[in-house]
Amino acid sequence: MARPIHAMDPALRSALVERMRFYRELGLTEFYRRAVDHMAPDAAPLEEAGARAGHAQERDESFARSLSGATATGAEIQPELVPSSSQSNFYGEEPAISARKRFSAPSEIAPVVSPQGRAAALRVIQEDIGECTRCALHKGRHTIVFADGSPTARLMFVGEGPGADEDAQGLPFVGRAGQLLNNMIAAMGLKREQVYIANVVKCRPPNNRTPEPAEANTCSPFLFRQIDVVRPEVIVALGATAATYLLGQRQPLAGLRGRVHAFRGAKLIVTYHPAFLLRDPRQKKEAWADLQIAMRELGLKPRERN
Ligand code: URA
Repeated sequence: MARPIHAMDPALRSALVERMRFYRELGLTEFYRRAVDHMAPDAAPLEEAGARAGHAQERDESFARSLSGATATGAEIQPELVPSSSQSNFYGEEPAISARKRFSAPSEIAPVVSPQGRAAALRVIQEDIGECTRCALHKGRHTIVFADGSPTARLMFVGEGPGADEDAQGLPFVGRAGQLLNNMIAAMGLKREQVYIANVVKCRPPNNRTPEPAEANTCSPFLFRQIDVVRPEVIVALGATAATYLLGQRQPLAGLRGRVHAFRGAKLIVTYHPAFLLRDPRQKKEAWADLQIAMRELGLKPRERN
């Protein structure tokens, strides 16, 4: 009988958690399943008949606690997590096709199902990021901008990276571009709290420059993990940077807009970045056409634009 994780020697536990995360990042499903069963033995199996949602939630939370290193006594362990360099997802460093093969598939990790479980799993990711110094962007940032919105959102927006307002407030899309994004969300008949909003990089690039490939490739594995937890049905990539790092291919926006791509189990739609739309409002009509594709995929009723 395996010992529950909280009963283990802390050093062993820390090493085990780190190893488990590595396996999880490799997508080794069976290992993950066994780890869930061994480390959270008090939680019922997901497949068990009856009270499925309750058990699943208990299991999610128990496992999320295990991953985050929370012990039975509430003491925290802090295993180091450095994203695997093999996860650099594109751009000059490797052919787009291999990046696509690796990252467009949905995660094979057993999904976290309950809202509480998803929120806990997102906290684990945030804890893994910690006070990140993995790339040069940390030097100029004030706040790491993790995300905003619902952990069970059906629709996710992905932008490029925080600007000055976001860096100050710790939330994505709260400046002028954010105002426009809020209007776009409202035009779709949704509230900002119903969607999930994140960026390719979580720290503000100096002078709002485009993130360097090394920065985006270091940070995007955390975004992919967020996507795997939230499991949105539709992702809207806002602008070329988001489209490039999600799709793993650099192409002009024109070639990517107007169709539905597949990404990690979600339907991905590419549109203009709100900051671009502020500079060129004539393109709003085009952006609205893209959002209507998203609405159609979500089964939302088309509305007349004001
Ligand atoms: N632009 C982005 O790409 N993301 C933000 O969060 C804000 C502005």
